[in-house]
Amino acid sequence: ETTWLVVPAAGQGRRMGAEIPKQYLTIDTRPVLAHTLDRLLQAFPASRLCLCLDIEDRCFDPAWVPFADWRRAPGGAERVDSVIHALEAIAGEAADDDLVLVHDAARPCVTVEDLRRLEACLAEDPVGGLLATRVADTVKRDDGEGRVAATQPRDGLWHALTPQGFRYDLLCRALRHARASGIAVTDEASAVEALGLSPRLVVGRRDNLKITHPEDLGLAALVLSAQRQSAQQ
Ligand code: CTP
Ligand code: MG
Repeated sequence: ETTWLVVPAAGQGRRMGAEIPKQYLTIDTRPVLAHTLDRLLQAFPASRLCLCLDIEDRCFDPAWVPFADWRRAPGGAERVDSVIHALEAIAGEAADDDLVLVHDAARPCVTVEDLRRLEACLAEDPVGGLLATRVADTVKRDDGEGRVAATQPRDGLWHALTPQGFRYDLLCRALRHARASGIAVTDEASAVEALGLSPRLVVGRRDNLKITHPEDLGLAALVLSAQRQSAQQ
């Protein structure tokens, strides 16, 4: 049984607002994508990788991919479309019950320990699941005019992180179903939930942040350096 890695890296990084997509911005002289792939390789040296890249991408360099066995898939309009392209690219090679871990290129701070624990937790799980952390802040909903309309009870609320891992066959069905029925899916788990299934929540580290806004780049640099110092990686 193979564990497949799917890394969507075909976004434009609009919220970051940089000249180039955020996965190519550098932290300590290496692009974010290279940091992310290094962590994945450390955790899963024998895994096979599919990388989603924009067909008009001008920044990618294959020298950043440390995997022996990898292929690329064209990006799509939304993240879910990119992931569907990746699943199509490995069709015929992936077995129905192979585990597919989908991990954002923009999350370079995921630790090897979290990656391995997630895979171990999902090894016997028929549904699959995701790394997640409990919401720490009180969460407000706005009224559309900059004022609070409601406070959400924080109990039982989680932040969905990545990787998110599901069996190949289930993930294909879930994403196609979600796209065909027009359900908005920002992660794999929500597509699986739309089939009436309940993905497992695996507690992950809070510093597995997704680089999204300009200030996140500095935070990620600090996290990577702190993780190296505490010999986490
Ligand atoms: N992604 C992708 N294909 C898309 C959109 C996103 O492969 N059509 C990838 C991004 O490259 C990123 C991950 O999915 O690694 C998470 O998406 P997000 O953080 O939203 O990145 P962007 O879409 O690039 O950023 P923004 O939404 O601010 O434009
Ligand atoms: Mg996006």
